[in-house]
Parts: sequence; C-alpha cells; structure tokens
Amino acid sequence: MLYLIGLGLGDAKDITVKGLEVVRRCSRVYLEAYTSVLTVGKEVLEEFYGRKLILADREEVEQEADNILKDADISDVAFLVVGDPFGATTHSDLILRATKLGISYRVIHNASIMNAVGCCGLQLYKFGETVSIVFWTDTWRPESFFDKVKKNRQNGMHTLCLLGKGLGVSSESRYGGVVLFS
Ligand SMILES: C[S@@+](CC[C@H](N)C(=O)[O-])C[C@H]1O[C@@H](n2cnc3c(N)ncnc32)[C@H](O)[C@@H]1O
Repeated sequence: MLYLIGLGLGDAKDITVKGLEVVRRCSRVYLEAYTSVLTVGKEVLEEFYGRKLILADREEVEQEADNILKDADISDVAFLVVGDPFGATTHSDLILRATKLGISYRVIHNASIMNAVGCCGLQLYKFGETVSIVFWTDTWRPESFFDKVKKNRQNGMHTLCLLGKGLGVSSESRYGGVVLFS
C-alpha cells in the first residue's frame, strides 16, 4: 500500500494520529521536500516519528518514482507531503503509476495553506484563482500572476499568492509565506 500523508503546516506535532500510526509501521518513509517545507527539519521529524526518513527531491519523485513504489504491493510505503498532499500541489503522477502497477493507495489529509488562509478573516468562498510568485532571476521573470490578481480583483475576489523559494518571510528557511490581495 502507498500512503500519501499530509504533515500539516507547522512542526512535527501537526501530523494526524492516523498519519503517525501509519508512518511508524511502514517499511519505507519518504519526505517530499521540494513543494513546501515545515518550520522544522528532517532530523526533528525523525526524532518525533521514531523513524528514519528518505528525502525525495523533485527529480526523484518525477523521474525515479519506481524506486518509491518498489515493493509497495507487498509492503507499506509512506510518502509525506507538507500541508495536504492535494493542497496547491498534486502527486497524481505517483498515484497513476501506483494504480498502473496494481498498487493500492490511501490518502491521509491534513491542514493546507489553501484553507489555513481563512485565519485572516476573509471568506474562503470569495477567493479567486490562487497564484504562485517566484523569485525572479536574470533570465526567468514570470509575471503572469499579475493578470490573475487583476482578474480576481475585477471579479470582486480575493487572491492568495503563494511565495516561492527566496521570497519567504522566515529568516531561517527563506521559503514560503503568503501575500493576500483583496
Ligand atoms: C506549492 S504550495 C504546497 C502547499 C501544501 N501542500 C499545502 O497543502 O499547504 C507551497 C507554498 O505554500 C505556502 N505555504 C505552505 N506552508 C505555509 C505556511 N505554514 N505558512 C505560510 N505559507 C505557507 C508557501 O507560499 C509555499 O511556497
């Protein structure tokens, strides 16, 4: 069985009880560490979960998915995702591959930035398209987010802007954070 387990948004203790039980009994546990990061690092998670974690970077997940799925038909493998596994990110490719290989999967949900943004007091019903804003380099300066924010404003909707690596407010990770337009 392949388990996709959400870790929530804060620290090691945000995993659900159900998620923790699964993590503790899986034969291998992967930590997806490129779409988002927690405030604590891998070592802190390992200590709290009582398990060694295997870091899975984008390349491994996208190109070496078969390594992750190896033997998942006869043993349990966990794939940990910060927030919710389907919040502002999808791992549908991994699920499609698992299904093709006859491997069953389960999703254990958790809080996501997509709903935690409700803490600002704005109605989640009134959000338009979410946008990502990435750190500009000399050669890569995507600005499509601007038109989307503009469109949301014209439609009377708020915009959740997810800030990419390098734009974060945390001095430790410099990753993440959000900006809202309403
Ligand atoms: C690609 S999304 C993945 C979201 C994650 N799967 C979830 O469900 O929350 C990652 C972005 O969400 C935002 N984000 C994630 N966790 C956050 C947090 N705890 N505080 C503020 N922003 C966060 C950041 O903008 C980060 O770059």
